[in-house]
Amino acid sequence: MALPKINPTMTNAWKKLQAHYKDVKDDHMKDWFAQDEARADKFTIKWEDFYVDFSKNRMTEETFNYLLQLADEVKLKAAIKSQFSGEVINETEGRAVLHTALRAPEDANFKVDGKNVMPEIHEVKEKIKTFTNHVVNGNLKGYTGKPFTDIVNIGIGGSDLGPAMVVDALQFYKNHLTTHFVSNVDGDHVNEVIKKLNPETTLFVIVSKTFTTQETLSNANTLKDWFLKSATNEAVAKHFVAVSTNLSSVQSFGIDKNNIFPMWDWVGGRFSLWSAVGLSVSLAVGYDHFNSLLSGANKMDEHFKNEDFKTNIPVVLALISVWYNNFFEAESEAVIPYSQYLNQFATYLQQGIMESNGKSVDRNGNLIDYQTGTLIWGEPGTNAQHAFFQLIHQGTKLIPADFIGFVKSLHGNQDHQDKLTSNFLAQTEALLHGKTGAEVIAEGTKEEIVPFKVFEGNKPTNTIFINKLSPESLGKFIAMYEHKIFVQGVIWNIFSYDQFGVELGKQLANKILQEFNTSNSNNHDASTANLLNYYKGFN
Ligand code: F6P
Repeated sequence: MALPKINPTMTNAWKKLQAHYKDVKDDHMKDWFAQDEARADKFTIKWEDFYVDFSKNRMTEETFNYLLQLADEVKLKAAIKSQFSGEVINETEGRAVLHTALRAPEDANFKVDGKNVMPEIHEVKEKIKTFTNHVVNGNLKGYTGKPFTDIVNIGIGGSDLGPAMVVDALQFYKNHLTTHFVSNVDGDHVNEVIKKLNPETTLFVIVSKTFTTQETLSNANTLKDWFLKSATNEAVAKHFVAVSTNLSSVQSFGIDKNNIFPMWDWVGGRFSLWSAVGLSVSLAVGYDHFNSLLSGANKMDEHFKNEDFKTNIPVVLALISVWYNNFFEAESEAVIPYSQYLNQFATYLQQGIMESNGKSVDRNGNLIDYQTGTLIWGEPGTNAQHAFFQLIHQGTKLIPADFIGFVKSLHGNQDHQDKLTSNFLAQTEALLHGKTGAEVIAEGTKEEIVPFKVFEGNKPTNTIFINKLSPESLGKFIAMYEHKIFVQGVIWNIFSYDQFGVELGKQLANKILQEFNTSNSNNHDASTANLLNYYKGFN
Protein backbone atom coordinates (compact mmCIF):
# COMPACT_ATOMS: atom_id res chain seq x y z
CA MET A 1 0.00 0.00 0.00
CA ALA A 2 1.24 3.50 -0.81
CA LEU A 3 1.38 6.16 1.86
CA PRO A 4 -1.95 7.71 2.84
CA LYS A 5 -2.61 11.06 1.13
CA ILE A 6 -4.40 13.05 3.76
CA ASN A 7 -4.32 16.83 3.92
CA PRO A 8 -3.44 17.39 7.61
CA THR A 9 -5.23 20.73 7.74
CA MET A 10 -8.53 18.96 6.98
CA THR A 11 -8.34 16.70 10.02
CA ASN A 12 -10.36 17.31 13.16
CA ALA A 13 -7.18 17.32 15.20
CA TRP A 14 -5.73 20.18 13.14
CA LYS A 15 -8.84 22.28 13.68
CA LYS A 16 -8.77 21.54 17.39
CA LEU A 17 -5.09 22.48 17.52
CA GLN A 18 -5.81 25.78 15.77
CA ALA A 19 -8.46 26.70 18.33
CA HIS A 20 -6.41 25.38 21.21
CA TYR A 21 -3.35 27.36 20.07
CA LYS A 22 -5.27 30.58 20.71
CA ASP A 23 -6.00 29.41 24.26
CA VAL A 24 -2.43 28.56 25.23
CA LYS A 25 -0.18 30.73 23.09
CA ASP A 26 0.31 33.34 25.81
CA ASP A 27 0.59 30.94 28.73
CA HIS A 28 3.93 30.66 30.46
CA MET A 29 5.35 27.19 30.92
CA LYS A 30 6.61 28.03 34.38
CA ASP A 31 3.00 28.40 35.55
CA TRP A 32 2.23 24.92 34.23
CA PHE A 33 5.18 23.54 36.19
CA ALA A 34 3.93 25.33 39.30
CA GLN A 35 0.42 23.98 38.84
CA ASP A 36 1.38 20.38 38.17
CA GLU A 37 4.20 18.78 40.13
CA ALA A 38 4.04 15.70 37.94
CA ARG A 39 4.50 17.61 34.66
CA ALA A 40 8.17 16.71 34.22
CA ASP A 41 7.50 13.02 34.86
CA LYS A 42 4.45 12.95 32.60
CA PHE A 43 6.44 14.43 29.75
CA THR A 44 9.56 12.27 30.06
CA ILE A 45 10.36 9.07 28.18
CA LYS A 46 12.97 6.72 29.57
CA TRP A 47 14.09 4.14 27.09
CA GLU A 48 17.25 2.04 27.23
CA ASP A 49 20.10 4.53 27.88
CA PHE A 50 18.00 7.53 26.73
CA TYR A 51 16.25 10.01 29.01
CA VAL A 52 14.09 12.31 26.93
CA ASP A 53 12.47 15.19 28.80
CA PHE A 54 10.02 17.13 26.65
CA SER A 55 8.25 18.87 29.51
CA LYS A 56 9.83 22.26 28.76
CA ASN A 57 7.52 22.77 25.78
CA ARG A 58 4.64 25.16 25.23
CA MET A 59 2.15 22.32 25.40
CA THR A 60 -0.32 20.95 27.88
CA GLU A 61 -1.73 17.45 28.14
CA GLU A 62 -4.59 18.65 25.98
CA THR A 63 -2.13 19.81 23.29
CA PHE A 64 -0.36 16.48 23.45
CA ASN A 65 -3.62 14.58 23.05
CA TYR A 66 -4.60 16.59 19.96
CA LEU A 67 -1.15 16.00 18.46
CA LEU A 68 -1.52 12.28 19.09
CA GLN A 69 -4.95 12.44 17.48
CA LEU A 70 -3.35 14.13 14.47
CA ALA A 71 -0.91 11.23 14.15
CA ASP A 72 -3.87 8.83 14.14
CA GLU A 73 -5.90 10.83 11.66
CA VAL A 74 -3.08 11.01 9.11
CA LYS A 75 -2.71 7.22 9.53
CA LEU A 76 0.82 7.28 10.80
CA LYS A 77 0.69 3.68 12.04
CA ALA A 78 -0.16 2.42 8.54
CA ALA A 79 2.56 4.63 7.04
CA ILE A 80 5.20 3.15 9.35
CA LYS A 81 4.04 -0.32 8.40
CA SER A 82 4.28 0.54 4.70
CA GLN A 83 7.82 1.78 5.09
CA PHE A 84 9.07 -1.24 7.01
CA SER A 85 7.34 -3.67 4.64
CA GLY A 86 9.30 -2.42 1.66
CA GLU A 87 6.37 -0.86 -0.15
CA VAL A 88 7.14 1.69 -2.83
CA ILE A 89 6.60 4.69 -0.57
CA ASN A 90 9.10 6.79 -2.55
CA GLU A 91 6.43 7.00 -5.24
CA THR A 92 7.94 9.81 -7.29
CA GLU A 93 11.11 7.78 -7.84
CA GLY A 94 9.30 4.42 -7.83
CA ARG A 95 11.36 2.98 -4.97
CA ALA A 96 11.02 1.31 -1.60
CA VAL A 97 12.75 2.94 1.38
CA LEU A 98 14.63 0.35 3.36
CA HIS A 99 17.64 1.81 5.11
CA THR A 100 16.16 0.08 8.18
CA ALA A 101 16.91 -3.31 6.57
CA LEU A 102 20.63 -2.46 6.53
CA ARG A 103 20.75 -2.52 10.31
CA ALA A 104 18.38 -5.43 10.91
CA PRO A 105 19.62 -8.83 12.12
CA GLU A 106 20.47 -11.37 9.47
CA ASP A 107 17.35 -13.45 10.09
CA ALA A 108 15.00 -10.50 9.53
CA ASN A 109 12.82 -10.52 6.47
CA PHE A 110 12.74 -7.36 4.37
CA LYS A 111 11.27 -7.75 0.92
CA VAL A 112 11.65 -5.64 -2.21
CA ASP A 113 9.47 -6.81 -5.11
CA GLY A 114 8.78 -10.00 -3.18
CA LYS A 115 12.47 -10.84 -2.73
CA ASN A 116 14.14 -10.95 0.69
CA VAL A 117 17.05 -8.50 0.57
CA MET A 118 18.73 -9.66 3.78
CA PRO A 119 21.10 -12.21 2.14
CA GLU A 120 22.52 -9.52 -0.21
CA ILE A 121 22.89 -7.06 2.66
CA HIS A 122 24.81 -9.60 4.71
CA GLU A 123 27.02 -10.56 1.83
CA VAL A 124 28.08 -6.90 1.53
CA LYS A 125 28.49 -6.61 5.30
CA GLU A 126 30.81 -9.61 5.25
CA LYS A 127 32.78 -7.96 2.47
CA ILE A 128 33.07 -4.74 4.51
CA LYS A 129 34.19 -6.76 7.52
CA THR A 130 36.88 -8.73 5.68
CA PHE A 131 38.17 -5.68 3.84
CA THR A 132 38.24 -3.58 7.03
CA ASN A 133 40.14 -6.26 8.94
CA HIS A 134 42.74 -6.62 6.18
CA VAL A 135 43.32 -2.87 5.98
CA VAL A 136 43.37 -2.29 9.73
CA ASN A 137 45.72 -5.16 10.55
CA GLY A 138 48.01 -4.24 7.66
CA ASN A 139 47.56 -7.43 5.58
CA LEU A 140 46.42 -5.40 2.63
CA LYS A 141 49.26 -3.32 1.34
CA GLY A 142 49.87 -0.53 -1.15
CA TYR A 143 51.80 -0.81 -4.41
CA THR A 144 55.22 -0.59 -2.72
CA GLY A 145 54.36 -3.17 -0.08
CA LYS A 146 53.65 -0.76 2.76
CA PRO A 147 50.50 -0.99 4.92
CA PHE A 148 47.89 1.76 4.56
CA THR A 149 48.05 4.73 6.92
CA ASP A 150 45.44 7.07 5.38
CA ILE A 151 41.93 6.73 4.02
CA VAL A 152 40.38 9.33 1.72
CA ASN A 153 36.59 9.30 1.40
CA ILE A 154 35.58 10.99 -1.85
CA GLY A 155 31.86 11.79 -1.98
CA ILE A 156 29.36 14.57 -1.38
CA GLY A 157 25.95 14.99 0.27
CA GLY A 158 24.81 11.70 1.72
CA SER A 159 28.01 10.06 0.47
CA ASP A 160 30.04 12.39 2.69
CA LEU A 161 28.05 14.02 5.49
CA GLY A 162 26.97 10.85 7.28
CA PRO A 163 30.35 9.06 7.26
CA ALA A 164 32.21 12.31 8.05
CA MET A 165 29.93 13.10 10.99
CA VAL A 166 30.16 9.56 12.40
CA VAL A 167 33.95 9.30 12.04
CA ASP A 168 34.23 12.63 13.86
CA ALA A 169 31.72 11.61 16.53
CA LEU A 170 33.51 8.32 17.18
CA GLN A 171 37.05 9.71 17.28
CA PHE A 172 37.45 8.27 20.76
CA TYR A 173 37.05 4.77 19.28
CA LYS A 174 39.37 5.32 16.33
CA ASN A 175 42.30 3.16 15.29
CA HIS A 176 45.65 4.23 13.81
CA LEU A 177 44.29 5.05 10.33
CA THR A 178 43.88 8.74 9.49
CA THR A 179 40.65 9.48 7.67
CA HIS A 180 40.18 12.43 5.29
CA PHE A 181 37.06 13.60 3.50
CA VAL A 182 37.06 15.34 0.14
CA SER A 183 33.69 16.63 -1.03
CA ASN A 184 33.68 20.16 -2.42
CA VAL A 185 34.43 20.69 -6.11
CA ASP A 186 36.40 23.73 -4.94
CA GLY A 187 39.93 22.60 -5.76
CA ASP A 188 41.20 23.98 -2.46
CA HIS A 189 39.56 21.07 -0.69
CA VAL A 190 41.29 18.29 -2.59
CA ASN A 191 44.59 20.18 -2.77
CA GLU A 192 44.78 20.70 0.97
CA VAL A 193 44.10 17.00 1.53
CA ILE A 194 46.72 15.98 -1.04
CA LYS A 195 49.36 17.91 0.93
CA LYS A 196 48.89 15.46 3.80
CA LEU A 197 49.06 12.26 1.73
CA ASN A 198 51.68 9.75 0.71
CA PRO A 199 50.51 7.86 -2.43
CA GLU A 200 52.23 4.66 -1.28
CA THR A 201 50.12 4.38 1.87
CA THR A 202 46.79 5.97 0.93
CA LEU A 203 43.56 4.13 0.23
CA PHE A 204 40.89 6.01 -1.74
CA VAL A 205 37.22 5.22 -1.19
CA ILE A 206 35.02 6.74 -3.89
CA VAL A 207 31.45 6.91 -2.67
CA SER A 208 28.71 7.80 -5.09
CA LYS A 209 25.35 6.11 -5.30
CA THR A 210 24.90 7.22 -8.90
CA PHE A 211 28.56 7.57 -9.87
CA THR A 212 27.55 10.57 -11.98
CA THR A 213 28.04 13.34 -9.42
CA GLN A 214 30.23 16.11 -10.82
CA GLU A 215 32.01 16.93 -7.57
CA THR A 216 32.86 13.35 -6.71
CA LEU A 217 34.05 12.35 -10.16
CA SER A 218 36.17 15.51 -10.49
CA ASN A 219 37.81 14.94 -7.12
CA ALA A 220 38.31 11.23 -7.85
CA ASN A 221 39.97 12.04 -11.18
CA THR A 222 42.21 14.69 -9.61
CA LEU A 223 43.30 12.25 -6.92
CA LYS A 224 43.86 9.50 -9.45
CA ASP A 225 45.99 11.82 -11.63
CA TRP A 226 48.01 12.82 -8.58
CA PHE A 227 48.40 9.15 -7.61
CA LEU A 228 49.56 8.22 -11.12
CA LYS A 229 52.38 10.74 -10.92
CA SER A 230 54.16 8.24 -8.70
CA ALA A 231 52.36 4.95 -9.38
CA THR A 232 51.46 2.91 -12.42
CA ASN A 233 47.96 2.15 -13.74
CA GLU A 234 48.11 -1.38 -12.28
CA ALA A 235 48.51 0.15 -8.81
CA VAL A 236 45.07 1.80 -9.09
CA ALA A 237 43.42 -1.55 -8.35
CA LYS A 238 45.25 -1.74 -5.02
CA HIS A 239 44.50 1.81 -3.92
CA PHE A 240 41.01 2.68 -5.19
CA VAL A 241 37.74 1.14 -4.07
CA ALA A 242 34.21 2.35 -4.74
CA VAL A 243 30.75 2.24 -3.22
CA SER A 244 27.97 2.61 -5.77
CA THR A 245 24.86 1.22 -7.44
CA ASN A 246 26.35 2.03 -10.85
CA LEU A 247 28.74 -0.89 -11.26
CA SER A 248 29.55 -0.35 -14.93
CA SER A 249 30.63 3.29 -14.53
CA VAL A 250 32.79 2.34 -11.57
CA GLN A 251 34.59 -0.23 -13.70
CA SER A 252 35.06 2.28 -16.50
CA PHE A 253 36.82 4.52 -13.98
CA GLY A 254 39.41 1.74 -13.66
CA ILE A 255 38.34 0.14 -10.42
CA ASP A 256 38.70 -3.59 -10.06
CA LYS A 257 35.31 -5.27 -9.83
CA ASN A 258 36.36 -6.99 -6.61
CA ASN A 259 36.88 -3.56 -5.12
CA ILE A 260 33.28 -2.48 -5.64
CA PHE A 261 30.97 -2.39 -2.64
CA PRO A 262 27.43 -2.40 -3.99
CA MET A 263 24.45 -0.51 -2.63
CA TRP A 264 20.84 -0.44 -3.72
CA ASP A 265 18.39 2.09 -5.07
CA TRP A 266 16.10 1.49 -2.07
CA VAL A 267 18.67 3.27 0.12
CA GLY A 268 18.34 7.05 -0.09
CA GLY A 269 21.65 8.95 -0.21
CA ARG A 270 21.02 10.84 3.04
CA PHE A 271 20.04 7.61 4.82
CA SER A 272 22.92 5.56 3.46
CA LEU A 273 25.64 5.64 6.11
CA TRP A 274 24.40 2.23 7.29
CA SER A 275 25.29 0.67 3.94
CA ALA A 276 28.73 0.32 2.37
CA VAL A 277 28.65 4.13 2.25
CA GLY A 278 29.81 3.71 5.86
CA LEU A 279 32.96 1.90 4.72
CA SER A 280 35.14 4.80 5.90
CA VAL A 281 33.48 4.55 9.31
CA SER A 282 34.23 0.84 9.48
CA LEU A 283 37.84 1.47 8.44
CA ALA A 284 38.26 4.28 10.96
CA VAL A 285 36.82 2.56 14.02
CA GLY A 286 36.88 -1.10 13.05
CA TYR A 287 34.06 -3.35 11.89
CA ASP A 288 32.82 -4.28 15.38
CA HIS A 289 32.15 -0.66 16.25
CA PHE A 290 30.51 -0.13 12.86
CA ASN A 291 28.29 -3.09 13.58
CA SER A 292 27.39 -1.70 17.03
CA LEU A 293 26.36 1.53 15.35
CA LEU A 294 24.01 -0.51 13.15
CA SER A 295 22.57 -2.49 16.04
CA GLY A 296 21.93 0.72 17.99
CA ALA A 297 19.98 2.05 15.01
CA ASN A 298 18.08 -1.24 14.82
CA LYS A 299 17.03 -0.88 18.47
CA MET A 300 15.63 2.55 17.69
CA ASP A 301 13.84 1.07 14.65
CA GLU A 302 12.15 -1.51 16.85
CA HIS A 303 11.18 1.16 19.37
CA PHE A 304 9.75 3.36 16.60
CA LYS A 305 7.87 0.50 14.98
CA ASN A 306 6.36 -0.99 18.12
CA GLU A 307 6.07 1.65 20.81
CA ASP A 308 2.82 3.43 21.56
CA PHE A 309 2.92 6.91 20.02
CA LYS A 310 2.61 8.49 23.47
CA THR A 311 5.97 7.07 24.53
CA ASN A 312 7.54 6.80 21.11
CA ILE A 313 10.57 9.12 21.06
CA PRO A 314 10.76 9.97 17.32
CA VAL A 315 6.97 10.36 17.09
CA VAL A 316 6.79 12.66 20.11
CA LEU A 317 9.69 14.82 18.87
CA ALA A 318 8.08 15.06 15.44
CA LEU A 319 4.69 16.07 16.84
CA ILE A 320 6.24 18.76 19.01
CA SER A 321 8.08 20.11 15.99
CA VAL A 322 4.86 20.23 13.95
CA TRP A 323 3.19 22.11 16.80
CA TYR A 324 5.78 24.90 16.61
CA ASN A 325 6.19 24.88 12.83
CA ASN A 326 2.52 24.96 11.92
CA PHE A 327 0.82 26.67 14.83
CA PHE A 328 3.41 28.94 16.47
CA GLU A 329 4.87 29.52 12.98
CA ALA A 330 8.40 29.01 14.24
CA GLU A 331 10.70 29.00 11.22
CA SER A 332 13.70 27.18 12.52
CA GLU A 333 14.87 24.68 15.10
CA ALA A 334 18.23 24.51 16.79
CA VAL A 335 20.08 21.36 17.69
CA ILE A 336 22.67 21.88 20.42
CA PRO A 337 24.79 18.89 21.37
CA TYR A 338 26.82 19.36 24.55
CA SER A 339 29.57 17.27 23.04
CA GLN A 340 32.42 18.46 20.88
CA TYR A 341 32.34 15.03 19.24
CA LEU A 342 28.99 15.98 17.69
CA ASN A 343 30.50 19.04 16.08
CA GLN A 344 29.28 18.03 12.62
CA PHE A 345 25.89 16.77 13.69
CA ALA A 346 23.81 19.84 12.74
CA THR A 347 25.42 19.98 9.28
CA TYR A 348 24.65 16.31 8.76
CA LEU A 349 21.08 16.77 9.94
CA GLN A 350 20.53 19.69 7.59
CA GLN A 351 20.62 17.36 4.61
CA GLY A 352 18.42 14.79 6.35
CA ILE A 353 15.75 17.28 7.32
CA MET A 354 15.89 19.93 4.62
CA GLU A 355 16.46 17.71 1.59
CA SER A 356 13.70 15.38 2.79
CA ASN A 357 11.02 17.77 3.93
CA GLY A 358 11.75 20.94 1.96
CA LYS A 359 8.76 20.34 -0.33
CA SER A 360 5.78 22.44 -1.38
CA VAL A 361 3.67 19.94 -3.33
CA ASP A 362 1.66 17.34 -1.44
CA ARG A 363 1.30 13.62 -2.14
CA ASN A 364 -1.72 14.34 -4.32
CA GLY A 365 0.35 16.66 -6.51
CA ASN A 366 -1.28 19.82 -5.14
CA LEU A 367 0.46 22.98 -4.07
CA ILE A 368 0.60 23.18 -0.30
CA ASP A 369 -0.80 26.13 1.66
CA TYR A 370 0.76 25.28 5.03
CA GLN A 371 4.36 25.19 6.24
CA THR A 372 6.52 22.06 5.76
CA GLY A 373 10.24 21.49 6.39
CA THR A 374 11.89 23.35 9.21
CA LEU A 375 15.21 25.14 8.94
CA ILE A 376 17.71 23.34 11.10
CA TRP A 377 20.91 24.73 12.52
CA GLY A 378 23.14 24.47 15.54
CA GLU A 379 26.57 24.14 17.09
CA PRO A 380 27.88 22.35 20.12
CA GLY A 381 27.45 23.86 23.58
CA THR A 382 29.11 25.49 25.38
CA ASN A 383 30.60 27.29 22.33
CA ALA A 384 27.13 28.09 21.02
CA GLN A 385 26.33 29.92 24.27
CA HIS A 386 29.07 32.42 23.46
CA ALA A 387 27.94 32.83 19.86
CA PHE A 388 24.20 32.90 19.16
CA PHE A 389 22.41 32.11 22.43
CA GLN A 390 21.74 35.80 22.99
CA LEU A 391 19.19 35.67 20.17
CA ILE A 392 17.52 32.54 21.51
CA HIS A 393 17.21 34.09 24.98
CA GLN A 394 16.24 37.65 24.16
CA GLY A 395 15.57 37.87 20.41
CA THR A 396 12.14 38.27 18.81
CA LYS A 397 12.01 34.82 17.23
CA LEU A 398 10.77 31.61 18.78
CA ILE A 399 13.44 28.95 18.29
CA PRO A 400 12.62 25.53 19.71
CA ALA A 401 15.83 23.70 20.52
CA ASP A 402 16.97 20.15 21.18
CA PHE A 403 19.63 19.94 23.86
CA ILE A 404 21.66 16.74 23.69
CA GLY A 405 23.96 15.70 26.49
CA PHE A 406 25.82 12.66 27.79
CA VAL A 407 25.68 11.67 31.44
CA LYS A 408 29.15 10.13 31.45
CA SER A 409 32.20 11.52 29.72
CA LEU A 410 34.64 9.47 27.69
CA HIS A 411 37.71 11.43 28.85
CA GLY A 412 37.12 10.81 32.56
CA ASN A 413 37.96 14.34 33.69
CA GLN A 414 35.05 14.93 36.08
CA ASP A 415 35.79 18.62 36.51
CA HIS A 416 35.22 19.29 32.81
CA GLN A 417 32.21 16.99 32.73
CA ASP A 418 30.53 18.72 35.69
CA LYS A 419 31.13 22.17 34.23
CA LEU A 420 29.77 21.07 30.84
CA THR A 421 26.69 19.44 32.38
CA SER A 422 25.97 22.40 34.66
CA ASN A 423 25.84 24.60 31.55
CA PHE A 424 23.70 22.05 29.72
CA LEU A 425 21.13 22.02 32.53
CA ALA A 426 21.33 25.73 33.25
CA GLN A 427 20.52 26.78 29.71
CA THR A 428 17.22 24.93 29.42
CA GLU A 429 16.29 26.14 32.89
CA ALA A 430 17.09 29.74 31.93
CA LEU A 431 15.18 29.41 28.67
CA LEU A 432 12.17 28.10 30.56
CA HIS A 433 12.09 30.54 33.49
CA GLY A 434 13.63 33.69 32.12
CA LYS A 435 14.07 36.54 34.60
CA THR A 436 11.38 39.01 35.61
CA GLY A 437 11.77 42.75 36.08
CA ALA A 438 11.30 42.28 39.83
CA GLU A 439 14.16 39.80 39.92
CA VAL A 440 16.38 42.16 37.98
CA ILE A 441 15.53 45.05 40.36
CA ALA A 442 16.25 42.81 43.35
CA GLU A 443 19.78 42.38 41.99
CA GLY A 444 20.27 46.13 42.42
CA THR A 445 20.14 47.04 38.72
CA LYS A 446 19.64 50.73 37.88
CA GLU A 447 16.03 51.37 36.88
CA GLU A 448 16.74 52.50 33.29
CA ILE A 449 18.75 49.33 32.60
CA VAL A 450 16.11 46.94 33.96
CA PRO A 451 14.21 46.28 30.67
CA PHE A 452 17.41 45.20 28.94
CA LYS A 453 18.12 42.59 31.56
CA VAL A 454 14.67 41.01 31.59
CA PHE A 455 14.38 37.53 30.07
CA GLU A 456 10.89 36.60 28.97
CA GLY A 457 11.64 32.86 29.28
CA ASN A 458 9.00 30.44 27.95
CA LYS A 459 11.45 29.26 25.26
CA PRO A 460 10.85 25.61 24.39
CA THR A 461 13.49 22.89 24.60
CA ASN A 462 13.73 19.12 24.53
CA THR A 463 16.46 17.53 26.62
CA ILE A 464 17.90 14.32 25.24
CA PHE A 465 20.17 12.92 27.93
CA ILE A 466 22.09 9.81 26.85
CA ASN A 467 24.20 7.70 29.14
CA LYS A 468 27.43 7.74 27.12
CA LEU A 469 28.56 8.42 23.57
CA SER A 470 29.22 5.00 22.07
CA PRO A 471 28.79 3.52 18.59
CA GLU A 472 25.53 1.94 19.78
CA SER A 473 24.06 5.06 21.38
CA LEU A 474 25.09 7.13 18.35
CA GLY A 475 23.27 4.65 16.11
CA LYS A 476 20.11 5.02 18.19
CA PHE A 477 20.45 8.79 18.18
CA ILE A 478 20.84 9.16 14.41
CA ALA A 479 17.98 6.74 13.74
CA MET A 480 15.81 8.76 16.13
CA TYR A 481 16.16 11.83 13.89
CA GLU A 482 15.66 9.77 10.72
CA HIS A 483 12.31 8.57 12.03
CA LYS A 484 11.37 12.06 13.18
CA ILE A 485 11.89 13.23 9.57
CA PHE A 486 9.67 10.43 8.27
CA VAL A 487 6.85 11.17 10.73
CA GLN A 488 6.84 14.86 9.80
CA GLY A 489 6.78 14.00 6.10
CA VAL A 490 3.79 11.73 6.68
CA ILE A 491 1.93 14.44 8.61
CA TRP A 492 2.69 17.14 6.04
CA ASN A 493 1.51 14.79 3.27
CA ILE A 494 4.72 15.16 1.27
CA PHE A 495 7.17 12.74 -0.32
CA SER A 496 10.24 12.85 1.93
CA TYR A 497 12.47 10.56 -0.10
CA ASP A 498 12.95 12.40 -3.38
CA GLN A 499 15.09 15.52 -3.93
CA PHE A 500 14.19 16.98 -7.32
CA GLY A 501 14.90 20.44 -5.93
CA VAL A 502 18.64 19.92 -6.28
CA GLU A 503 18.50 19.13 -10.01
CA LEU A 504 17.88 22.49 -11.69
CA GLY A 505 21.05 24.08 -10.32
CA LYS A 506 23.10 21.05 -11.45
CA GLN A 507 21.69 21.28 -15.00
CA LEU A 508 22.36 25.01 -15.31
CA ALA A 509 25.88 24.64 -13.91
CA ASN A 510 26.65 22.12 -16.65
CA LYS A 511 25.35 24.49 -19.33
CA ILE A 512 27.37 27.41 -17.95
CA LEU A 513 30.49 25.24 -17.70
CA GLN A 514 30.26 24.54 -21.44
CA GLU A 515 30.00 28.24 -22.18
CA PHE A 516 33.32 28.95 -20.45
CA ASN A 517 35.13 27.21 -23.27
CA THR A 518 33.14 28.39 -26.29
CA SER A 519 31.79 31.61 -27.67
CA ASN A 520 28.29 30.10 -27.70
CA SER A 521 25.99 31.68 -25.22
CA ASN A 522 22.71 30.42 -23.82
CA ASN A 523 19.88 32.72 -23.10
CA HIS A 524 20.64 34.19 -19.69
CA ASP A 525 19.05 36.96 -17.73
CA ALA A 526 21.10 40.16 -17.86
CA SER A 527 22.50 39.71 -14.37
CA THR A 528 23.80 36.18 -15.00
CA ALA A 529 25.12 37.14 -18.45
CA ASN A 530 27.13 40.02 -16.95
CA LEU A 531 28.55 37.86 -14.18
CA LEU A 532 29.49 35.13 -16.64
CA ASN A 533 31.26 37.59 -18.93
CA TYR A 534 33.02 39.19 -15.99
CA TYR A 535 34.43 35.77 -15.04
CA LYS A 536 35.39 34.95 -18.63
CA GLY A 537 37.27 38.26 -18.82
CA PHE A 538 39.68 36.98 -16.18
CA ASN A 539 39.96 33.30 -17.14
O1 F6P B 1 22.54 16.66 -4.91
C1 F6P B 1 21.94 15.91 -3.94
C2 F6P B 1 22.33 14.45 -3.95
O2 F6P B 1 21.66 13.80 -4.95
C3 F6P B 1 22.08 13.85 -2.59
O3 F6P B 1 20.79 13.45 -2.41
C4 F6P B 1 23.10 12.77 -2.54
O4 F6P B 1 23.32 12.38 -1.23
C5 F6P B 1 24.28 13.46 -3.17
O5 F6P B 1 23.72 14.27 -4.17
C6 F6P B 1 25.36 12.58 -3.71
O6 F6P B 1 24.91 11.70 -4.69
P1 F6P B 1 25.76 10.45 -5.15
O7 F6P B 1 25.95 9.56 -3.96
O8 F6P B 1 24.95 9.78 -6.22
O9 F6P B 1 27.09 10.92 -5.67
